[in-house]
Amino acid sequence: MHFQPHECLSVDLAGHAHDYPIYIRRGVLKHLADLLPLPTSRKIFLVYDKGLPLTYLETVTMTLMEAGYCLHEEVVPQGEAAKSLGVLEELYASALKKGFTRHDAFLALGGGVVGDLTGFLADSYYRGARFIQVPTTLLSQVDSSVGGKVAVNFGEVKNCIGAFKQPDAVFIDPDVLETLPPRELQAGLAELFKYALIEKTALDSETPALDDEPLWEAFTRLGKRWPDELGALIHAACTIKAAVVMRDETESFPKDDARGRVCLNLGHTYAHAYEAYYGYGILLHGEAVAIGMLCALFAHGDHLAEGFLQAALDLMETLNILPHEAIHQLGVFPEADDLLAIMAKDKKVITSGTLRLVLPEGDIGTVVVKEVPRELAEHGITKAHAYLKARQ
Ligand SMILES: NC(=O)c1ccc[n+]([C@@H]2O[C@H](COP(=O)([O-])OP(=O)(O)OC[C@H]3O[C@@H](n4cnc5c(N)ncnc54)[C@H](O)[C@@H]3O)[C@@H](O)[C@H]2O)c1
Ligand SMILES: [Zn+2]
Repeated sequence: MHFQPHECLSVDLAGHAHDYPIYIRRGVLKHLADLLPLPTSRKIFLVYDKGLPLTYLETVTMTLMEAGYCLHEEVVPQGEAAKSLGVLEELYASALKKGFTRHDAFLALGGGVVGDLTGFLADSYYRGARFIQVPTTLLSQVDSSVGGKVAVNFGEVKNCIGAFKQPDAVFIDPDVLETLPPRELQAGLAELFKYALIEKTALDSETPALDDEPLWEAFTRLGKRWPDELGALIHAACTIKAAVVMRDETESFPKDDARGRVCLNLGHTYAHAYEAYYGYGILLHGEAVAIGMLCALFAHGDHLAEGFLQAALDLMETLNILPHEAIHQLGVFPEADDLLAIMAKDKKVITSGTLRLVLPEGDIGTVVVKEVPRELAEHGITKAHAYLKARQ
């Protein structure tokens, strides 16, 4: 099977024996077996969750079984609850009972929940088995399936027990997004949009991730027609994330070097505070990230090139990534003080009264990591809330 350059990416990490491919193509699910870097003598342990439309499960099992793979399927509950030691224990028991060894593969078919859980299972089973990612939500296609972070939750702490586990291959089929609820799609789009704001810093180059234009310009050109070129946009997002991960796989760059993994956190310090304030699961993560990016843009409005802030607001509205409806339903805006108190608890971001934030600066696509006074962080929240309230 032949892939165009924009349909396949190779992730090459220092210290790893092999690079691994990310295939991005409409209908690639049907061709999984032809592309799998795994002999047919090996077994596949497939994990999916209860919310996955069964047609994708059927497509994948059909192609793998026709190719001669021995397959075992496990279904897990929907949502964060599946990222637990309890579910993991059941999966270990099942894999052992079925005679899986470290030479066999664990395949995640689903969103970030299934990917994180199955990745940790693959990493810890006999000290590391094979791992295949087939992400089926937009968020997992542009974010969680690339980068190797895998984890389960413990107690109240999200992603408390985890590892860095790079997959052996990633298969991204944009067609599966047709069945995704619109709210999930828009939340994923917010993460995709984030790459437009960090592109230059993340790539450490002026050469764009798309063939001939920066992601920002592609979004501007496409406007509401962005789904027309979804495959290319996903490819650009994965290219940008992979570039950062190849440079700083395990987040060991200095904390203030925006070329490290930290740049992926644009909007996230604010976002985590909104998620915690409303209660996890009330706002979708991508929705909170959209509000977080708005705060970051407003906080650093004076350091942006002329016209950038207004263009960003316009584009976010056109793409419909700000969750006006969800905010309307919630009916209440947090006080800036409450959000800042939550942000201050995050040891990663605070030192003696200042907050360390990733902020857009100068031209579109450039971000910096800055220690800013509390007042500046607060200014971002106040302006963002005024903006959102005016649109309620
Ligand atoms: N590892 C990382 O680097 C990383 C990065 C970001 C997020 N995450 C994690 O990802 C998780 C969130 O992932 P998510 O947003 O994909 O949510 P999710 O995995 O919970 O999926 C959302 C819902 O969509 C359903 N679904 C999946 N594919 C579908 C499809 N094609 N059509 C219809 N429904 C479908 C699922 O059943 C689920 O109910 C969180 O646990 C988060 O911590 C990890
Ligand atoms: Zn995120």
